Amino acid sequence: MQILDSMDANPKKLVVVSNRLPVAIHREGDEWTIRSSPGGLVTALAPTMRSARGVWLGWPGCSPETPTDQLLATLTELDYQLQAVDLSEDDISRYYRGFANRSLWPLFHDLLGHFSFNTDDWLAYVRVNQRFAQRVRECAGHNSFIWVHDYQLLLVGRALRELGVTQHLAFFLHIPFPSPDLFRRLPVSRDVLEAMLQYDHIGFQTAQDKRNFIQCIKWFSPASRRTSFRRQSILRHEGRDIKLGYYPISIDFKEFNDLAQDQRVADASWYIHENFASEALALGLDRLDYTKGIPERFLAFERALDKYPELVGKLSLIQVVIPSRLNVEEYQALKNELDQLAGRINSRFSQQGWTPIHYQFRELDREQLLGHYRGCEIALITPLRDGMNLVAKEYCASQVDFRGVLVLSEFAGAARQLAKGALLVNPYDIDGTADALYAAYIMSAEERRRRMRILRHEVRRNDVRRWVQWFLSDAPLDKDESGN
Ligand code: G6P
Repeated sequence: MQILDSMDANPKKLVVVSNRLPVAIHREGDEWTIRSSPGGLVTALAPTMRSARGVWLGWPGCSPETPTDQLLATLTELDYQLQAVDLSEDDISRYYRGFANRSLWPLFHDLLGHFSFNTDDWLAYVRVNQRFAQRVRECAGHNSFIWVHDYQLLLVGRALRELGVTQHLAFFLHIPFPSPDLFRRLPVSRDVLEAMLQYDHIGFQTAQDKRNFIQCIKWFSPASRRTSFRRQSILRHEGRDIKLGYYPISIDFKEFNDLAQDQRVADASWYIHENFASEALALGLDRLDYTKGIPERFLAFERALDKYPELVGKLSLIQVVIPSRLNVEEYQALKNELDQLAGRINSRFSQQGWTPIHYQFRELDREQLLGHYRGCEIALITPLRDGMNLVAKEYCASQVDFRGVLVLSEFAGAARQLAKGALLVNPYDIDGTADALYAAYIMSAEERRRRMRILRHEVRRNDVRRWVQWFLSDAPLDKDESGN
């Protein structure tokens, strides 16, 4: 707990850097609105940000002509500062849509079929990472703790070193890290690894991600030496020690558990059942993304209706897809595929008064979200690959009636922690997923309760506050303020 303790005694300024700022800016006509967008990371970091006079740096998610600074200044309810890093249309197209989301995102999720590489996009990625670093240097003093997040900003550490920053630099990767076999397909893989080694402390979601990274280092730099402890390894590289650890991210258990007991959520959950007129409901809830395995899930649901005809008229799938990255081609194509699949399956099985798939392409507000979590008897969460998957954890925390069954992909980061209570499936195995869905449907109330108890205990014990403490307490303090 060294960093946290040291923050209390002699508070360091916490500088968090992520591609996106946790805000949503909208324009209607000449009217601009801004609201802070609550996500897991915001909840996790807010208390530390407050006590550590924090600054959060990132892209506000809008075009450069937006009056971002004025809008940010109106967010007076926050006790810490938000600083915008603006991106031009070209940056958005090459750095964000290009290298980050056409190269790194698919490759790191083991989905080579979606991977492509373009040198100009890579160069834009280098430039934008340098720009982030420049802004960090302007905001951070010598006594700051700099914490960079996720795959869009892998090179910020190196860019900071180039600017003469010598202090401790921490990084957390929210998505998986691929095996060397895959990682080597990236034409700039050596450059990326070399840059990542400029951080002092790198956190991964799972032991497997950390192992993959170490395997890549062995290939890239056979001379590097490593000492391993239980959850951590220290890598000795070119005279520096780099700490590697894994810290599965989580959610605010209490927030979901408390809100799920609110009468408005209970009403919303009752209403969902009334509205969708099915004896049992399975829920899929994902950002629009090909990593989430939504078409495979639709096919598994169809297979279940074929294989187990007693489900017809009794079990519906509610699939909520939250719009995302629609201006990346692959995402638009996926949207079209989902529209067609849902239409085809519904036209095959629909009966008067019963629809097999209720497919919604929209965002849910908090009450509706919790209503869905509390009301659906099954959560069908089947990503092809996922860093963690917080929906799985949110579902468990909201299951205050202990009626729900979690069917979870073995390729989600959360699978390891939730294996004892969930039904694990391989999302590529359409038959296997259909069988698990049926097993969830016929599971006795007693067995559901037993499993949900295990799941809730796990999520409560390892909540998001513990995650922050874990990470920060592992931050080595062996460097003094001047970096020595
Ligand atoms: C994943 C990534 C985040 C990203 C989020 C939304 O969770 O790990 O870094 O912010 O997706 O994606 P977007 O491209 O809209 O920021």
